[in-house]
Amino acid sequence: MKASSNLILFVDEKFNIGSLKKYISNSEFSYISDLLKNSDLKKDLLSFDINSKKTIFLVSVKKDVKFSDIENLGAKFHRHINYDKKKDYFVNTDTINSNIENFAGYFLHGIKLKSYEFNIYKSKKNKKNISINLIGNKNKVSGYSQLRFKAIEEGSFFARDLVSEPGNILHPDEYARRITSLKKFGLKINVYDQKKLKKLGMNALLGVGQGSIRGSYLVTIEWNGAKNNSNPIAFVGKGVCFDTGGYSLKPAKFMEDMTYDMAGSATVVGLMKNLAIRKAKINVVGVVGLVENMVSGNAQRPGDIVKSYSGKTIEILNTDAEGRLVLADALTYTEKKFKPKFIVDLATLTGAIIVSLGSEYAGLFSNNDKLAKQLLDAGDKVQEKLWRMPLHKNFDKLIDSKNADMQNINYVGGAGSTTAAQFLQRFILNKTPWAHLDIAGMAFSKYGGALNSGGATSYGVRLLNKLIEDDYE
Ligand code: BES
Ligand code: MN
Ligand code: ZN
Repeated sequence: MKASSNLILFVDEKFNIGSLKKYISNSEFSYISDLLKNSDLKKDLLSFDINSKKTIFLVSVKKDVKFSDIENLGAKFHRHINYDKKKDYFVNTDTINSNIENFAGYFLHGIKLKSYEFNIYKSKKNKKNISINLIGNKNKVSGYSQLRFKAIEEGSFFARDLVSEPGNILHPDEYARRITSLKKFGLKINVYDQKKLKKLGMNALLGVGQGSIRGSYLVTIEWNGAKNNSNPIAFVGKGVCFDTGGYSLKPAKFMEDMTYDMAGSATVVGLMKNLAIRKAKINVVGVVGLVENMVSGNAQRPGDIVKSYSGKTIEILNTDAEGRLVLADALTYTEKKFKPKFIVDLATLTGAIIVSLGSEYAGLFSNNDKLAKQLLDAGDKVQEKLWRMPLHKNFDKLIDSKNADMQNINYVGGAGSTTAAQFLQRFILNKTPWAHLDIAGMAFSKYGGALNSGGATSYGVRLLNKLIEDDYE
């Protein structure tokens, strides 16, 4: 560290700097002491420009902080980074006064998650090469913990990249290739193409993709990290690479966002990458259905009836209610093939969940109270919140059809997110504990959130990692 390097020091909620004398020069100390007299001490962070090259940051840590508060402090600090002029930052871990393990790790993790941006299609990129280093003898972050932070970052950024890619680049063919590239992390990957899916009888999934010039796929991603061959836990994701609505066409205003309609699957893929990098001691399978919902002479029509992998027939009254058709086959297949301990699916499934919960909570639907509670708790801990929504047989009736076993939309209207969930539940055939997360309002953020700067959020990667870590590993 040079005398001119930027320094990050932690202080208590009153910005007492008495104990910092050891780490800064006398003149710096008195300069900061003076300025503090007129500073707003309610802030979390105050910065003091010592000269054109050096800034000292004081980060105020309240009593009883949780690890998520420290991540947020890191994210707040990110705004103060001057990427053009100030390249070296040093976080002094000796100034940490907290019993939270890996405090400094969470701080750096918050900075990193917030720093993500998707700029590969910009000719002029903002250069972001700075270094942030930990110095000090106390409160070191172990190599083990560093790997776990790195795994989440890489898994989340992989998911964010996938969600950010436009529909012309990340169509199902390309998506299947990108997932296959994860073999190098030790994941076992199986790609079922149209021919295989036809043989298996996955006509609900295939019907959605039949109007596209691209293929339709079901991809399974296995991580076998347990010492035994115990049954896995399973995560299933909606991967609609672009959702025009099909013949039940979306208006332009609603269609333009539909490049992120594969976010559920991206979360599953990112989660699996994270588990592989950190070599999680558990057996997990991820299953994603990849399709493109297009209009063409060969596309599905409203009124079409298809026979799903489960054997149940579905009348397609609205081709824009396509996510549930993809998930229907993926869910039954996952349950049958892997006999998982439980299944959690993720999908940008309904606009109605945005009406209910905005971009504050994802909707949680479950047939199992224990699993629901575990998910709610994990979500609270990592700031990816869930709100439980109802399932009930009276809602289930609303998707009965005159012409087939069921129809893909509710015939009286209302309760759009719940009837979609009821539809999915019909494809869990053996009462496996199951939860459905409707993430339509959470996958993409217009204005940015605590740990993202806007755009793809990778909602769910950290939530499900926490669930695994706390309850199943
Ligand atoms: N992908 C959409 C849901 C969506 C809407 C996600 C807005 C993100 C933002 C889904 O496929 C869909 O179109 N759902 C319809 C269902 C309706 C036809 C019953 C919807 O929500 O309008
Ligand atoms: Mn749709
Ligand atoms: Zn959709």
